[in-house]
Amino acid sequence: MTKDTGPTLDTQLWKPRSVAETRALYSGWAKDYDADVTGAGYETPARLAAALAAESADLTAPILDFGCGTGLSGKALAAAGFTTIDGTDITPEMVAQARALGLYRELTVSEPGTAPPAGYAAITATGVVSLGAAPPDTLDTLLGALAPGGVLAFSYNDATLADPRYMQALEGAKARADLLSEAYGPHLAAKDMGSTVYVLRKR
Ligand SMILES: C[S@@+](CC[C@H](N)C(=O)[O-])C[C@H]1O[C@@H](n2cnc3c(N)ncnc32)[C@H](O)[C@@H]1O
Repeated sequence: MTKDTGPTLDTQLWKPRSVAETRALYSGWAKDYDADVTGAGYETPARLAAALAAESADLTAPILDFGCGTGLSGKALAAAGFTTIDGTDITPEMVAQARALGLYRELTVSEPGTAPPAGYAAITATGVVSLGAAPPDTLDTLLGALAPGGVLAFSYNDATLADPRYMQALEGAKARADLLSEAYGPHLAAKDMGSTVYVLRKR
């Protein structure tokens, strides 16, 4: 059973849209985002943070929360024990909410498609590389920003798992990296939606 979960989640969130439409959607949603997705049982951030922690020897090494949004994904990383978390996102209004949390070391508003700075031990993308948000080639861009041995952890929701373009990008990423873990589980419980969390280590 699905239930009403706020106007943005109840409309078609997981459909293709332009960058301008994506920014408009998230800038208009920024204030209500946390209440809506938390109310809908958003479980992917905690699952992804735990999966990354299981593969990380040093929780103090700097990590980048790519597509950090309002900071729910960063909060989950901090709860899993990570201590040095930077965040970046294309939507200024989402980043403003994240800034108010005070948990990120650095926060930046980025341009879509721009490679993050080098030097991170790990990059996460929680609910970001997805139909209606960042495009499939984002995986390639994020892997490119990691040094060999760096770890990329990301999630694909059900709609994304059903999209051949995103699955092809996943195959491309697996060709450049070792798959450390892959686990399907709940994404938004109220929507009966799942996601797969992948953790890859760049070769
Ligand atoms: C569903 S939210 C997830 C936010 C956060 N990671 C979380 O788990 O709550 C998707 C975020 O991806 C951002 N986004 C969309 N397209 C992006 C892109 N091309 N590059 C970086 N961030 C993007 C949006 O601005 C939005 O904040």
